[in-house]
Amino acid sequence: MADTQKTATLTIDGASYDLPIYSPTAGPDVLDIRKLYSQAGVFTYDPGFTSTSACDSTITFIDGGKGELLHRGYPIDQLAGKSHYLEVCYLLLYGELPSAVELEKFELTITRHTMIHEQMHNFFRGFRRDAHPMAIMVGAVGAMAAFYHDSTDISDPHQREVASHRLIAKVPTIAAMAYKYSIGQPFVYPRNDLDYAANFLHMCFAVPAEEYVVDPILARAMDRIFTLHADHEQNASTSTVRLASSSGANPFACIAAGIACLWGPAHGGANQACLEMLKEIGSVERIPEFIARAKDKDDPFRLMGFGHRVYKNFDPRATVMKQSADEVLDLLGVENNPVLGVAKELEQAALADPYFAEKKLFPNVDFYSGIILEAMGFPTSMFTPIFALSRTVGWISQWKEQLADPGMKIGRPRQLYLGETLRDYTDIEKR
Ligand code: SDX
Repeated sequence: MADTQKTATLTIDGASYDLPIYSPTAGPDVLDIRKLYSQAGVFTYDPGFTSTSACDSTITFIDGGKGELLHRGYPIDQLAGKSHYLEVCYLLLYGELPSAVELEKFELTITRHTMIHEQMHNFFRGFRRDAHPMAIMVGAVGAMAAFYHDSTDISDPHQREVASHRLIAKVPTIAAMAYKYSIGQPFVYPRNDLDYAANFLHMCFAVPAEEYVVDPILARAMDRIFTLHADHEQNASTSTVRLASSSGANPFACIAAGIACLWGPAHGGANQACLEMLKEIGSVERIPEFIARAKDKDDPFRLMGFGHRVYKNFDPRATVMKQSADEVLDLLGVENNPVLGVAKELEQAALADPYFAEKKLFPNVDFYSGIILEAMGFPTSMFTPIFALSRTVGWISQWKEQLADPGMKIGRPRQLYLGETLRDYTDIEKR
């Protein structure tokens, strides 16, 4: 915990209470209210946690005003440009960039854990073919606790390490299997001669009938998408994983909870919703109609892929993603993709509109990721599963950090109660 140099004084009904203020290494000071209820008998009120820090962390820092995202101090644009996903996984998990020997050992460990228990194949066959892949992922990842009992004891550091490696290694296999199952194609086993991103593309797009060679440019773009989604401070799904973990739940249950939360269209489901929105707009001529709807307070429609709770400037991930989109579409000869044309016009129209500028609504990571994934051949239903497999390392890193905190307590928020006060039961004859 940061040391406290300052205090704030709160006065309620003539009584004063001193609350410690901690200064972080970066970002705003925080007010420690842990003793507020016991001293002053009042709760704070912050639904949506717009002004509440729920933990201390050393993993990721976001400066929303500057549009800055750091993982263990390294800016996301440098990591996306110079590193690769498994190296970023090591950085998030262990706090430092690995040496060549450490990286080789880590990559070999992950590679050797990519297969899932053969019995789990039957698990998939219980789903309808048209099940959303996220429904399958929530079920299959949660079910890993039924297959990997030897890495569910969170009090054992070795088991925590094994569970971390198993999840990072196996979630892509599960995501690829969910895709194959949804299109009625046979599962494709992981290959140890392929790197992480190439292996995922191979598991998704290879078929037994012919050899599938992964294009290195697509593998690089896939790896970059994984890196850009790896971690993001205390977002909704990460907070879900931390809250689930605070009860002592096993790692597979905690990550399944994070996947469930990410599924929502306001969060990780936005990339799917964004592409569906772009297709609904259909042509640049209809953009003004949808911009007007997004600004209409009486219309629940929002521009999916725009806005962010923290970024009040450009999402630095969207900047990198936009460059990747141009590369992939150029490679695939789909630079005239009508959806990309609508996306680029929509971005320009929204950025030029005072409403979005005033509310600081800029394109976020989800705005361009869907375009790249569609160009690669993924159906929109696979966009959020890809986000989930990318974010697994972030969830696991935050899970590990919380478990290592000796002061960890079960999360138990209170409430502002506005319901009925005490009253007696009324027999039905008298109602
Ligand atoms: C992710 O937290 C993270 O870090 C998440 C994430 C991660 O990596 O984990 O970055 C991933 O979830 C990115 C966000 C993806 N979601 C979307 O693209 C869905 C569309 N965006 C919105 O739903 C919204 O912007 C949120 C949910 C992202 C943020 O919502 P906030 O911070 O709660 O903001 P708000 O809803 O209070 O909106 C503030 C104002 C409102 O207008 P007023 O009530 O003040 O008049 O801006 C408006 C909103 O109506 N607004 C939008 C808008 N987003 C907000 N208006 C039109 N279109 C939008 N997209």
